Amino acid sequence: MEVIKDSYKLYQGDCLEVMDELIKDDVKVDMILTDPPYGINLTPQRENGKFKNTKVINDNNLCWLPKFVNQIYALTKNTAIIFCAWQNIDKFKIELEKKFTIKNILVWNKDWFGMGNNYRPNYELILLCCKTNITTKSKNKSNILTYRRIPPQKLKHSCEKPVGLLEDLIYELTDEDDIVLDSFMGSGSTGVACLNTNRKFIGIELDENYFNIACDRLENPMYEQNQNKINDRQKTLF
Ligand SMILES: C[S@@+](CC[C@H](N)C(=O)[O-])C[C@H]1O[C@@H](n2cnc3c(N)ncnc32)[C@H](O)[C@@H]1O
Repeated sequence: MEVIKDSYKLYQGDCLEVMDELIKDDVKVDMILTDPPYGINLTPQRENGKFKNTKVINDNNLCWLPKFVNQIYALTKNTAIIFCAWQNIDKFKIELEKKFTIKNILVWNKDWFGMGNNYRPNYELILLCCKTNITTKSKNKSNILTYRRIPPQKLKHSCEKPVGLLEDLIYELTDEDDIVLDSFMGSGSTGVACLNTNRKFIGIELDENYFNIACDRLENPMYEQNQNKINDRQKTLF
């Protein structure tokens, strides 16, 4: 399934197949910004959480990684930004370095780790890769990006990234009207960040439920505000 609008194109399907088609059609994008499955067979956060028993597709393997790296290298003009869990950073780095230069490993500081055991996860890693070089708009950027993680009751996806964090990366590394591709778009957070910063967006998602959420978020600029209102109302009810 495809949804095509002036400033974005969304595909429901396996990104390895969709990207083959994009390559055949000679598509080039200015940046890949994606948050793939981490290959760690992630267990949904809490026993009573809303994502209980929902696993992320393909999170139990990394066999897609070599083909994915070749494809993003063919599609991007220069830059690729890949989220990654610390458990598999070595495997991602080895595979990406076959094609790209890794310029930096950024840290997303989630700024809030709730309650539980010691050494609870409070950061994620972001591989900043390029073919030639990378220039940022700001002159004084730290490699630690601090954006409060989305509270559990507001999450639309168990691995959802804050739009502000994605806007920061997009603003720094691309220009207005550039095209950004997210091959594992989940609930479409990268797409929302692109629309907010006047970039064009291509998104691919295999899971029909998340694909539909992404369509809704991009179609209705009021979606985020309405969801927040619903969540706030639920908080007062229960
Ligand atoms: C870590 S999540 C991305 C979450 C996203 N950053 C957000 O804010 O909602 C990875 C997503 O990749 C999707 N996925 C896994 N394998 C895929 C494939 N071969 N093609 C397209 N999407 C895939 C999963 O369904 C999941 O939604």
